[in-house]
Formats: sequence, structure tokens, C-alpha cells
Amino acid sequence: MKKRIGILTGGGDCPGLNTVIRALSKCAIKSNYEVLAFKDGFKGLVENDFIILDNAMVSGIINQGGTILGTSNVANPYKWPYSKGNKIKFKDLSKKAIANYKKHKLSGLVVIGGDGSMTIANKLYMDGVPIIGVPKTIDNDLAFTDVTFGFETAVVTATEAIDKIHTTAQSHHRAMVIEVMGRYAGWIALYSGVASGGDVILIPEIPYHMKYVYKKINERKQKGKNFTIIVVAEGAKAYGGKLTVSKLDKRSTDPIRLGGIGIKIANEIEKNIGIESRATVLGHVQRGGSPTPFDRILATRFGTEAVKLLTNKQFGQMVICKNNNISSVPLEEIAKSLKLVPKDHPLITSARLVGTSFGDK
Ligand code: F6P
Repeated sequence: MKKRIGILTGGGDCPGLNTVIRALSKCAIKSNYEVLAFKDGFKGLVENDFIILDNAMVSGIINQGGTILGTSNVANPYKWPYSKGNKIKFKDLSKKAIANYKKHKLSGLVVIGGDGSMTIANKLYMDGVPIIGVPKTIDNDLAFTDVTFGFETAVVTATEAIDKIHTTAQSHHRAMVIEVMGRYAGWIALYSGVASGGDVILIPEIPYHMKYVYKKINERKQKGKNFTIIVVAEGAKAYGGKLTVSKLDKRSTDPIRLGGIGIKIANEIEKNIGIESRATVLGHVQRGGSPTPFDRILATRFGTEAVKLLTNKQFGQMVICKNNNISSVPLEEIAKSLKLVPKDHPLITSARLVGTSFGDK
């Protein structure tokens, strides 16, 4: 029987997933492996729902957003959600997932996902499944890797959108608030805010005071600039305030879905200083579209590295990119920490030097 590699994509989709699937599959097939792909993330592993990928199936997808395998951000074999009446309950189906893994006589399983998927991957590894992790997320919040694919594409999408919003801000003399994704980290807001010349950037790592946002708007007004662009991360909080939660997905291990801070800020500006304001929530548009060349290159390097680790039987590792070199770290390390924006990040320093406000002074 031919040697087989298993793969799956877990968590939220992200530009570059198909690029990894392509690179990994082509590289594995060339090394005489068969590639067995579980559908819809860990759901496919629990339900033994899979397809065999051949060269033709992964051809022409290098530039396609999303994942041809499907994904799920609620399917966790260790905490499998099910409904009982109108309540959500959980059961442990990890034994079933491991039995399915074993059935296929795989040489290893490559899990492509964010921090949630890496935590599950690490548990499966501890339970005896030979796993390699490949990091993905538009949020760029995974520790130990300088960057994840999907992030740059999301920043480009957000920057283009903010550029477009500039024209309405100028024409109508408004304060325009643009809410971007990023969960508990401010990377997308910081990068797209700087790239689009945002006047105010609000990120979770630097709690803001509205009085400083008003100060910036008024300063600009005094200089004859009758509009202000405010880029806010969905996870930003007022000093001493709380996260703005849009909904709770009770089926998910991480149930909090953020959203709504943009409209809150726009309303406060209008109410307190009488400047007409509007909010735009960019939302899932940031997760879609064709990956940038940088993200395609990173995803290709990650995909081929995963096959190398698997062939060398270096399991329990996640592929990373450090100083433009591809290497790996133990999965258990990843599961422990989030990579947040340091308050003294060089981009924050540069932004402050050109007059950008972070709402803190
Ligand atoms: O982690 C990626 C991400 O897009 C976050 O930026 C965002 O907070 C979250 O996923 C949204 O999740 P969902 O697709 O479940 O609404």
C-alpha cells in the first residue's frame, strides 16, 4: 500500500489556505505519498469524511481564497457540540477521531489552522497522533512565527477599503470610523491604519480615552482638515472598559465573537462633539479574495516544510517563519500564548511621529 499523508484545514478560512493545500499535495505526491484530506476541519476526522487529492484537484488553486476542503470553527473532537432541547452540550469524541485516523494507516496528519486548531492538534499529538501544524490566520496573533499567511492579504483589503472611505470623509466633512478584524490583537488595524494614513488608530493593546479622539478631531479642524479617519480594531477597548461582543457562538470552544465598537465610537463622536460620523464594519471581506504574492510564497514554503517534517518524522511541531527563515517549534508552545502588538512596536513609534493618535494622549 502507498504511504499516505492526512491533511485538514480548521478554524476560520483565510487567504492562502488553498495555496498550502496545493504546495503540500504536489510536494507529497512527488515524494510518492497519497494525500487524504478530511473535509470541514476536525468534523471530517470525527465523521471519517474525506477525499483523496490528486494533482488535478490541487491545480489552479494557488490564487483562490477559502479552502477547497471546507473548514469549521466549532468542530472540536474533545468538546463536540450537540443540542439537547434548546441547550448546547458537549461530548468527547476524540477516541472516535483517533480511531478514524488509525483506520487510514497514515504516516502523519498535517493540521492547517489558527490557535484553536493548534491547541486541538497538540492534544491529539499528546494522545498519540503524529501531527504537524501549519499556522494560518489573518489576525497574525500566533506566537513564535513572525507572520502568518492571510495577514498581508487582509491588510491590503482593509487598506483599499479605507482609501475608498477617505473620499466620503473629505467630501462630507465627516469622522469616518472603520472597524477591522483581528480578535484580541491590533495587527490588522495597526498595519492598515498606517498604510492608509489613518488619523486615529485604536488597538486592543492600547486602551483609548474618547477625550483624546475628540482632541485629534478638533486639532485637525483647527488646521482646516474637516474630516478624520479612525481605524478601530474589533477588540479595542476604552480605558477601564470592556470588549464589545457582537454574539456568543455557544457551540464554539472560544464562543466570543467581537464586533460593534465602530458604531459605538461613531455615535459617541456625533453625540459629544457634534461632528457627523459614520461607521463601516469591514467584516469577512477581510478573509476573502485572492492571496497576495507574499502570502502565496509563505503558504508554499509552509506547505513544503510540513512535508519535510513529516518525512523526517518530526512530529508535534508547528512550522514557523522567523527572520524570513522557515523552521518549527513544538505545538505545545503555540497553544500557550498569543502574539499581541507590543506597545513600543516600531510601527507605533513611526505612526506617532507622523501625528497619528492611538487615543491614549
Ligand atoms: O480569527 C479570524 C477572525 O476573522 C477574527 O478576526 C474574527 O474575530 C473572527 O475570526 C470571526 O469569526 P466568525 O467567522 O466565526 O465570525
